[in-house]
Amino acid sequence: MATSVPAPVPALADRAERCADRLREADRVLLASHIDADGLTSAGVAATALRRAGIPFETVFKKQLDDREVASIAAREYGTVLFTDFGSGQLDAIAEYERRGAFTPVVADHHQPADAETEFHLNPLLEGIDGASELSGAGAAYLLARALEDDGNGRDNRDLAALAVVGAVGDMQASGGELHGANAALVADGVDAGVLEESTDLAVYGKQTRPLPKLLEYATDVFIPGISNSQRGSIEFLSELDVDCRDGEDWKRWVDLSDAERQRLASALLQRAVERGVPSGKIDRLVGTTYTLLAEPEGTELRDASEFSTLLNATARYERADVGLAVCLGNRGSGLDRARELLRNHRRNLSEGLQYVKREGVTREEHLQWFDAGEEIRETIVGIVAGMAYGSDGVDRSVPIIAFARKNDEETKVSARGTGTLVRKGLDLSAVMGEASAAVGGKGGGHDVAAGATVPAGSEAEFVAEADRIVGEQLG
Ligand code: C5P
Ligand code: C5P
Ligand code: ZN
Repeated sequence: MATSVPAPVPALADRAERCADRLREADRVLLASHIDADGLTSAGVAATALRRAGIPFETVFKKQLDDREVASIAAREYGTVLFTDFGSGQLDAIAEYERRGAFTPVVADHHQPADAETEFHLNPLLEGIDGASELSGAGAAYLLARALEDDGNGRDNRDLAALAVVGAVGDMQASGGELHGANAALVADGVDAGVLEESTDLAVYGKQTRPLPKLLEYATDVFIPGISNSQRGSIEFLSELDVDCRDGEDWKRWVDLSDAERQRLASALLQRAVERGVPSGKIDRLVGTTYTLLAEPEGTELRDASEFSTLLNATARYERADVGLAVCLGNRGSGLDRARELLRNHRRNLSEGLQYVKREGVTREEHLQWFDAGEEIRETIVGIVAGMAYGSDGVDRSVPIIAFARKNDEETKVSARGTGTLVRKGLDLSAVMGEASAAVGGKGGGHDVAAGATVPAGSEAEFVAEADRIVGEQLG
């Protein structure tokens, strides 16, 4: 069955069609997804597509899809389970249930697949598309949604491309400045459908919601001496500009400025960075592509893909996936208010977590560096904090970073982050996390550039030694 608009990613069209056909045959579907921004948007995309296709479903979220969670899903006795943003890495366990006739899995994911295979499996890595930078879980769910929406009414689910882009941005797939590969085809769909706008803009976080001084003060990814981390410096800088940054008593936000004013502010900021000796490679990172959700109100977190994704992380990573999903599904009343409260808490936790890492520092091994946050950082956000710390000045990006956080008395969460340059030299953190955790009785996986694991409490030192050895082998 062909949709009216050509499939956005032809290489995955057959897999998407097969998965869609299987879902259409289902009496009811259990939709299981992951608790991060990409997982929530995956669920939002899939849930909307199932509803539009008239397929009854229920949704569950899981922090991790381990054997116990797969068992709990099987116990729900749904004939069909749709896994989004996870499932590929756990196909060994899932395929076992399938073999026993417990349920038929349909998997739309972008993680490194386990050795087992299954019939209804939509994953970019199976077709040579990079799952860490070219398509996210929400992107895979979107391709499925496109294949599902073929009801002869001329609808094609392209409006869901906006949510899919939020997922990709939330998974840091635009960290090089813009989305590319299969993701670019999703962006094009969203632009065509009138739900997305793509523009080259200042690449700082908070352009929709932050008052200008805060926008600059908190922009520390590219550190500009005298402005980054300096409220006074930021205010002084703004006051010297030929831009009216005030709205009565209040400061304007980036979105309140005209195009010409934005241009003037951005040029002045770049010039200041040059004057203060910021290296040109870093200055380039101050400009990037902004993805704007045109159906959302201006000046809200929902209007900007990056701010939207942070809002979602603030819900599901604090056991409130229901709030994040409600927002993805269009709840703009109580759901959004609650999400904003959670966002304030999440921001504080990120900031405190980052301060902790800066204060305590990292321990350097031969081929990697690590820190153990114990109970100081929540295990559900330690990966985000590790990524932020890794991107900040003073951390050596020539080796990967590994972070530990206490999960409970028995288990420790591990998060690992690397760089594109290291991946091109052979680094595969998914394999590092998988093998090093298996060596100490744990389990792990993920992507080449970002991965994670759960290991028995007390095995951290042995895990570091294993990981250090494996990274050395990969890069040697
Ligand atoms: O489970 P999932 O794939 O959704 O999580 C991806 C994680 O990997 C995110 O936390 C994201 O920040 C990180 N990541 C990254 N750099 C990339 C791709 C992913 O830090 N290029
Ligand atoms: O939790 P964190 O953000 O560090 O996860 C990085 C990546 O590793 C994510 O894609 C996540 O789904 C994956 N991961 C995994 N198995 C684990 C932990 C994390 O596949 N036990
Ligand atoms: Zn993902």
